[in-house]
Amino acid sequence: MVAFIRAPGDRSIRSYIDAERGTISRETYVNPDIFDQEMEQIFQRCWLLLGHESQIPNPGDFVVTRMGTEEVIMVRDRKDKQIRAFLNSCRHRGEKVCRYDQGNSLVFTCPFHAWTYDTKGKLVGAGFQNSPEAYTDTLNKAEWGLVEVAQLCNFYGLIWPPGIAKPRHSRIIWAHSRRAYDTACSRVMGRMRGWGCSHRSSVIVYRPTGRFPASPR
Ligand code: FES
Repeated sequence: MVAFIRAPGDRSIRSYIDAERGTISRETYVNPDIFDQEMEQIFQRCWLLLGHESQIPNPGDFVVTRMGTEEVIMVRDRKDKQIRAFLNSCRHRGEKVCRYDQGNSLVFTCPFHAWTYDTKGKLVGAGFQNSPEAYTDTLNKAEWGLVEVAQLCNFYGLIWPPGIAKPRHSRIIWAHSRRAYDTACSRVMGRMRGWGCSHRSSVIVYRPTGRFPASPR
């Protein structure tokens, strides 16, 4: 087990990479410290791809995807047809409000106690909501909508939420990424429809067996 230096400019991870032989230690796929470091230094700072607007062409269409460790519902609103994204976590006790990978829905109803949210993330109903014994008659639905992912950016139909990087860093990262995507997207997006790939499935997952000390890059 390697102790990582959690500081800017940390290069300890490089000891896992043998550029000459073209190998990467399998430790990089299983070490929880590396996972935490990736989440902290990459996934919490960068703009993350949620999906493509063609995945949810109709009002009420949704797909469930991820932002780092958070599960997110990307949905096209039934009324204004805008794309929004919400944490897939009930505001009551945190259960998933959507248990499907994709589909079309009027509302999202939590299976625990039936708190129900519309496609704008607003709480529109709850089990026993009118019972004074359940919520002591004080449930203010306006305060308990799903947590919305702020500042979604639509770029050639690709939907990006920002990470939690400071705005200046986000702008720099985005400026660099944007140049690359500008070129790539302008070439291929015109032909891209029904795009079913998210960053989840674009990652190659290695199954560590312990028999091999390193994996090819
Ligand atoms: S946890 Fe969702 S309704 Fe209770």
